[in-house]
Amino acid sequence: MERLDKILASQTSLSRTEAKRAIHLGQVLVDGQVASSPEQKVDPMAQKIIAFGKPIAYQKHLYLMLHKPAGVLSASRDSRQKTVLDLVPDHFRRAGLAPVGRLDKNTTGLLLLTDDGDFAHRIISPKSGVTKIYDVALDADLKPDLPERFLAGVTLADGTKCLPAKLDITGPRTALVEICEGKYHQIKRMFGAVGLGVESLHRRSIGGLLLPPDLAAGACRMLKEEDFSALGVFPNDCQ
Ligand code: URA
Repeated sequence: MERLDKILASQTSLSRTEAKRAIHLGQVLVDGQVASSPEQKVDPMAQKIIAFGKPIAYQKHLYLMLHKPAGVLSASRDSRQKTVLDLVPDHFRRAGLAPVGRLDKNTTGLLLLTDDGDFAHRIISPKSGVTKIYDVALDADLKPDLPERFLAGVTLADGTKCLPAKLDITGPRTALVEICEGKYHQIKRMFGAVGLGVESLHRRSIGGLLLPPDLAAGACRMLKEEDFSALGVFPNDCQ
């Protein structure tokens, strides 16, 4: 059982204050009765909540995939710049929704968002072994010894040693890189350490989950059963 205003704030784009106001204004029904107060205790799994005439389909947590376009920040909010949260449609907005890790402003591709911190941690942690694959375009030709150097673990300019990474050379200045950790600007710094600049970066997959070709840049959708299987990481209450 949880407070009604808390449930509404977690399931909708309403803030806690807006949820309280809606309840006071009689705009929320619980099992067909006008809700009595924001403190009213409700079992969201068993009771039917209707706000503004629309039923609330209760989900403890939300899991989204987004095709991040270039030019937006992987942050929850920023006072001046557009963030990935600005791309999320209103009906998916809820308290605590945040990107799982970060892509740089100009990096494109697959980004997950959730309000389930434990799930996010399990995706990000190198211990989980969830790898990420990036398409990289470089400013100079790739040398044939690079796959071996990446596999041995690149040492960054500040002395940080990266875990082994897989590099497939796909063209004179293009490559696919698979990493299992997410250090700040990792791909750019790894190539910087071997004397190359990254001209463009696109994340094509996380674990076995590929960015769907029909998900347009800027669009997002909920993760499906098969997406969790592809990731190899499941919400705790589904295991
Ligand atoms: N590595 C980077 O350098 N940038 C990204 O956005 C992701 C990985």
